[in-house]
Amino acid sequence: MSDTLDTTELLGRSELDDIEAILSVANTDVDEVLHVVKDEADAIFTWDYSLTRPALRRLYEKAKVGQWNATTDLPWDTEVDIEQVVGADQVAVAAGLDPNQYSGTVIEGWGDKEWLDFGIQNRKWTLSQFLHGEQGALLCTAKITETVPWYDAKLYASTQVVDEARHVEVFARYLDEKMGGGYQVNAHLRLLLDDIINDSRWDMTYLGMQVMVEGLALAAFGFMHQMTEEPLLKQLLRYVMSDEARHVAFGVLSLKEVYDGMTDAEMKDRQEFAYEAAVRMRDRFLSQEVWERMGVAPRDIVPIVLRDPTRDLFQQMLFSKIVPNCKKLGLLDRNEAWLRRRFEEMGVIQFEDWENTGDEYLKFELGASVPGDA
Ligand SMILES: [Fe+2]
Ligand SMILES: [Fe+2]
Repeated sequence: MSDTLDTTELLGRSELDDIEAILSVANTDVDEVLHVVKDEADAIFTWDYSLTRPALRRLYEKAKVGQWNATTDLPWDTEVDIEQVVGADQVAVAAGLDPNQYSGTVIEGWGDKEWLDFGIQNRKWTLSQFLHGEQGALLCTAKITETVPWYDAKLYASTQVVDEARHVEVFARYLDEKMGGGYQVNAHLRLLLDDIINDSRWDMTYLGMQVMVEGLALAAFGFMHQMTEEPLLKQLLRYVMSDEARHVAFGVLSLKEVYDGMTDAEMKDRQEFAYEAAVRMRDRFLSQEVWERMGVAPRDIVPIVLRDPTRDLFQQMLFSKIVPNCKKLGLLDRNEAWLRRRFEEMGVIQFEDWENTGDEYLKFELGASVPGDA
């Protein structure tokens, strides 16, 4: 089977940048309140209570002392003037758009007002997808607590359930109180979350959530944390990142042990799953719902956005945690470097030798200065 065939089967399209195929994945039920996904996995008891994985036990101890209270530890009385904040944060640039690149396009008539409005919508949309992803993490970690066969991992996963509840709490509250509401889940993100919950293999929950979704989230939170001048959001993101780095480390440390013992065929499944997740996350960042809200047909603007050089840098940054973590897990180079070649096509392989999160998570603890901070 050739690589092209592989990719077509996985993605339902032969070209990575097939705009029609990407935009055809859209949320058709924006009023949906409950969303049901079949969880096919076995719940597993273990009667072996011995401590055999000291690295996971250390994470558990770190998690217990790293707890914070979203209600009392964040300055919720901060006044947030959305227009002022979005203007100061240059949200369009932060989302990968350079307003100077759009003369001669369908939005060339946009003035400061439209760009500001776009920035506000984009900030609401981005925080909303963070929120929905956090709920995905909440469900996934509850699932891992049930499905992972290791005692140390069950203990640790239970702390992550509490962490994720807190993350859902803070993003939901910020959107409601400070942004005046948000957006429904993006269809690409929902499909990815559905796939992760649906899979019966316990390690796939980890790979999809802890390594791919949370790896991307850690990079995206870090970027927004650096860009924003809004003190409440900045502190909120800093607190969430202190948990998130521990979560990614949990995924990397757990899967390393499992993947080192896997056959090529088993690893190929994991490589494909990681690639599919990577593409879905990349597709969601085309933020088609924001364009619709602004009255611009996504198919008229998305091909132009894809050629914006600022966009390219933004997209690369999102993968700065995922790629070194996949390398650490041996996912890049098994099966004739199958995933390495996919990441080369996506233009993100240059991060492979950056520090992996299994090693660097302590740098994100509260009180430490975050990598990339001034
Ligand atoms: Fe989270
Ligand atoms: Fe997390």
